[in-house]
Amino acid sequence: MKFNSKILVAGASGMVGSAIVRNLRKQGYFNIIEATRNRVDFIVQEETKEYFNRNKPEYVFVTAAKVGGIMANKKYKGDFLYQNLMIQNNIIHYSMISDVTKLVFLGSSCIYPKFATQPITEDQLMTGPLEPTNDGYALAKIAGIKMCEAYKEQYGFNAISLMPTNLYGPNDNFDIETSHVLPGFIARFHKAKLNNDPYVECWGDGSPYREFLHVDDLADASVFCMKNYEDSSIINVGTGIDLTIKELAEKISNVVGYTGIIKWNTNKPNGTHRKLLNVDRLSNLGWKYSIDLEEGLNKTYDWYLRNYNA
Ligand SMILES: NC(=O)c1ccc[n+]([C@@H]2O[C@H](COP(=O)([O-])OP(=O)(O)OC[C@H]3O[C@@H](n4cnc5c(N)ncnc54)[C@H](OP(=O)(O)O)[C@@H]3O)[C@@H](O)[C@H]2O)c1
Repeated sequence: MKFNSKILVAGASGMVGSAIVRNLRKQGYFNIIEATRNRVDFIVQEETKEYFNRNKPEYVFVTAAKVGGIMANKKYKGDFLYQNLMIQNNIIHYSMISDVTKLVFLGSSCIYPKFATQPITEDQLMTGPLEPTNDGYALAKIAGIKMCEAYKEQYGFNAISLMPTNLYGPNDNFDIETSHVLPGFIARFHKAKLNNDPYVECWGDGSPYREFLHVDDLADASVFCMKNYEDSSIINVGTGIDLTIKELAEKISNVVGYTGIIKWNTNKPNGTHRKLLNVDRLSNLGWKYSIDLEEGLNKTYDWYLRNYNA
């Protein structure tokens, strides 16, 4: 990838897309096409075709997707399945048709079986049943991975698939109803602090383990893999370190400065007990995360106060 290469970031206004744009600019790439939904709706085949004909990108990052937390995934399962299939099919297909040099597709750690052996190695894909709450989203992502593999095999199209762990950082979704656990906790503990609420209620018993990666690290890994990873096998991106949801809630409560009690509603589901990625494949290529959770949470709360909360 040259500094003047035409690089398309699909989903450039999202958390991951905007972080990839920041990372590319910081490294000196300047010919970046920021595809946002008000310029092109990737669900629509004709719009996607026309957008690729007009812009003729050389490199493509696929970060446009319908993304959400456990509640949104359960309630809008059909939308998650349909929209993600359409978006990725259109982008991957027209990237191949228009001779894109290389494409990076972003999957997710939820593509792995519910009862995968921990830490999860890449070869466990499609070895068991999925977590039912988000199987619509996971199935769409698995189809995207398989499409990249099939287009590589059939057409020699250079497409790779990255499987990031749970992400957080600037431009995350902090909506209490539809967010992922970490930004949801930030918003709820912040609100509870402002309202002087005596307690914050969280779902489950806090025992599940989760891994979190700052989105600036994911962006760095995505650009690194665009330059250094050629294999059609998927590659995990994470820290390789996890903590319990209870520990996460306590950390966020401290960062926010909330002094009330954390109550656990055990009538609500816990979700998968543990989801930790094995990151040996990426580590062996020479990439490692640089933002630890303490630093990342402080930075994210600062960003939330400056932007979202305003
Ligand atoms: N967030 C995580 O924890 C996480 C973890 C693992 C993997 N990932 C993957 O990373 C990728 C990006 O996630 P994210 O967290 O950055 O999500 P995000 O903040 O919701 O960003 C997604 C972007 O895609 C755009 N988009 C959605 N539908 C579109 C369409 N039909 N046409 C054009 N653009 C469209 C959205 O635009 P609008 O804002 O206008 O809708 C938004 O800018 C996804 O593939 C996701 O699966 C995320």
